[in-house]
Amino acid sequence: MATRFEPSGPLRGDLRPPADKSVSHRAALIAAMSEGETTIEGYLDAADTRSTLAAVEALGATIEGAGGDSLDPSLRVRGTGLRGAAPTSIDVGNAGTLLRLLPGWLAGQETGAWTLDGDDSIRRRPVDRVVVPLREMGARLECRDGRLPPLRIEAAPLRGIAYELPVASAQVKSCLLFAGLLAEGETTVVEPLPSRDHSERMLAAAGAEVERGDRTVSIRPAARLEPGEIAVPADFSSAAFFVVAGLLVAGSEVVLSGVGLNPTRTGLLEILARMGAEIEVEPEGERGGEPSGRLRVRPAPLRGTEVGGADVPLAIDELPLVALAACFAEGATTIRDAAELRRKESDRIATVAAALTALGATVETSEDGMRIEGGSGLRGGAIESHGDHRIAMLGAVAGLASREGVEVAGMDAAAVSYPGFEADLASLAH
Ligand code: S3P
Repeated sequence: MATRFEPSGPLRGDLRPPADKSVSHRAALIAAMSEGETTIEGYLDAADTRSTLAAVEALGATIEGAGGDSLDPSLRVRGTGLRGAAPTSIDVGNAGTLLRLLPGWLAGQETGAWTLDGDDSIRRRPVDRVVVPLREMGARLECRDGRLPPLRIEAAPLRGIAYELPVASAQVKSCLLFAGLLAEGETTVVEPLPSRDHSERMLAAAGAEVERGDRTVSIRPAARLEPGEIAVPADFSSAAFFVVAGLLVAGSEVVLSGVGLNPTRTGLLEILARMGAEIEVEPEGERGGEPSGRLRVRPAPLRGTEVGGADVPLAIDELPLVALAACFAEGATTIRDAAELRRKESDRIATVAAALTALGATVETSEDGMRIEGGSGLRGGAIESHGDHRIAMLGAVAGLASREGVEVAGMDAAAVSYPGFEADLASLAH
């Protein structure tokens, strides 16, 4: 069934987007690795992060506050300890972050074996990026065709290594940091460019010995972790849909509060500022090492820009929205160095280009990005989410800003990160 999004009048109002998906996954995993009780305040209630709760329960952690239809505002997690994960099979659903982070913890257990598998989209997402360095650490792992799930992990003694990531990836970095907690000696990860650093922040707050340099992070083995309490800010990547909607729909004024403003996540704000946007950012403070604040967005005339290099990991999940904004900007926008987009929930170079082209834009793709000819906005039409939550929500925002409206097939994919998306969008369109 398709969902229609009509051209909208001004969007107005104040909302707090749902909790951060990346921080929620890490909170559940790190709480599960701990021994005492960890309180997680504001855990994301969405399909992906439910997969992580189910995984840590299967591994032996106990969770209070997740029994009903919706999650309690605070979850209490009693972990298994760093070395106490029970052997089991895990269905990661659609959650790529769970698929890539969990093997780091499991590979270094003293005994046991685990299998990780998921939906059709997960079965197309590469795991060799974690298998290769984990094997260097001594891990025993097998996967399909040497690079795809299902992934089988057998407990093995690990040794610390220094590993240079071929591509900036917070998932691979986090996986190796988790493995480093259980390895002999120090583990160092070198990144070509900085990527999101939630794991480093949360592990340090839980008492791990984490040392950070410019593009390096090192971790020492740990006897135990004690996070105590973790507060999850609202997800910048979910807020980003309303940021771009508020920028593109004439007469809008949208305020987003409680939004995580970790600088390794907010690259979209820098890119939009270069395009001419004036988004007000009011910091609201910091909890558990993660800053948050309020964003106020109004429309502004936009111009095309060049996106590449260090922009890419800092805005990796928001690049589809950059492409959408570019359709409304004067001049062309070029996105480069973003081949990683082809390995997300869908091939986002192909799916974004197909969606925007179907709505009337002129888009040319390359192996590592795309070029969008701006200036004429979007006519409207019909698009397909390809089961990708961010493409579904992109289509909805495109509909509001288009001249004739947009029909999105597969809107239900939004529930992976944002089950209340349509209701929140409707609450702004009075
Ligand atoms: C994530 C990291 C990013 C991002 C994904 C979530 C994370 O992937 O695209 O949505 O939580 O670590 P990579 O770091 O592998 O690019």
